[in-house]
Amino acid sequence: MKTAIIYNSQTGFTKRYAKWIAKSAGADCIELSVAKKKDLTSYDAIIFGSWACAGSISKISWFKSNIDRWADKKLIVFCVGGSPIDNPEIEIAFKQIFNESERKKVKIFYCPGGFSYEKMSVPSKLMMKMFVKTLKAKKDKTKEEQVMLKMISSSYDISDKKYIEPILQCLEK
Ligand SMILES: Cc1cc2nc3c(=O)[nH]c(=O)nc-3n(C[C@H](O)[C@H](O)[C@H](O)COP(=O)(O)O)c2cc1C
Repeated sequence: MKTAIIYNSQTGFTKRYAKWIAKSAGADCIELSVAKKKDLTSYDAIIFGSWACAGSISKISWFKSNIDRWADKKLIVFCVGGSPIDNPEIEIAFKQIFNESERKKVKIFYCPGGFSYEKMSVPSKLMMKMFVKTLKAKKDKTKEEQVMLKMISSSYDISDKKYIEPILQCLEK
């Protein structure tokens, strides 16, 4: 199966997952800005990977606008975020991002990434600063919020190659 992995990454975690998948699946790994200019018709499968941003997925509207054009292809999305894999908010967010019809056409996966304040853009750093401040000020924080606050106060890396396994299995099916 001729497969393209198209990725959008700010600080490198999504790129790392895209490369892991591409190597294991023998697929082409293409950065989003390059993919936008490319003819992708010859691919049997398109895998789009991008990072979680404020409850959504960065640049997901670009992918969604192509779903109908790619009706003949296997379509997979993987989202890389700062949350651990067992965060129940992930499934809730996916249900909001993709409607039922889209979920029939696209298989969606989550891969834990991390936070890299060293590589983050200035606007992203500012957004995170505001988010941390708001969360710190919140009274009666839930357990998840307390864990989250501790995690995002500094850089961390929870990425692991094992998280690509379900994606590879889906590709083979
Ligand atoms: C502005 C901003 C918003 C974010 N929102 C979320 C979020 O809603 N959920 C989440 O799990 N991670 C969130 N993250 C964390 C990133 O998704 C995480 O750092 C990811 O690993 C970045 O991937 P990249 O290295 O490919 O850019 C956010 C990060 C930034 C900078």
